[in-house]
Amino acid sequence: MIKIAPSILSADFANLEREIKDVEQGGADYIHVDVMDGHFVPNITIGPLIVEAARRSTTIPLDVHLMIESPDQYIESFVKAGADIITVHVEACTHLHRTIQHIKSFGIKAGVVLNPATPVETIKHIIKDVDLVLLMTVNPGFGGQAFIHEVLPKIKEVVQLVKENSLDVEIEVDGGVNEETARLCVEAGANVLVAGSAIYNQQNRKEAIELIRGSYNL
Ligand code: DX5
Ligand code: ZN
Repeated sequence: MIKIAPSILSADFANLEREIKDVEQGGADYIHVDVMDGHFVPNITIGPLIVEAARRSTTIPLDVHLMIESPDQYIESFVKAGADIITVHVEACTHLHRTIQHIKSFGIKAGVVLNPATPVETIKHIIKDVDLVLLMTVNPGFGGQAFIHEVLPKIKEVVQLVKENSLDVEIEVDGGVNEETARLCVEAGANVLVAGSAIYNQQNRKEAIELIRGSYNL
């Protein structure tokens, strides 16, 4: 079963509760929350306060994607705000193993994120410790960018790594995912699809989610 995780980055923040409920009713599996600090990525978005508001708007899991420097010092705040999954970038963590253990110590799921140019090799030694691997299919920072096709072979590499170690790790893709690129990702082995603009830029979010689901035969 492939999971769909709408990214609220493209939602109308003046009506956040309604926007979240809209995709929940449309069949979303996770709500993807993009946290940006203006340092790790050239954009500033939201913090724990909005995650807490999102938590009160839905019961489905909140997938919190931290695009921030020094994530360790903010993890507890995001856990308290109601995150179910926290993902951190390999590129932002000097002590990645410690950061992953820190997330898991709160009893929530931990994931690791790779930018398009970062090789899968960098997560080989922590694959047994994570619940999820997120592969960026755009350079992080903004919604609505074009899918980078060169990431597709990396999905297959992660599938292989997970198989070799007989693990149950989710493989998520994020950026430029729409009804055309979703199929390519699923064929390569991804099982969680983040989609921001492809869902929120449509009037009917249920139809947008179904359009993505209908694009692959699984
Ligand atoms: C990009 C974010 C994505 C973004 C995806 O930095 O991590 O989650 O919201 O937006 P789309 O689906 O529009 O590329
Ligand atoms: Zn994201």
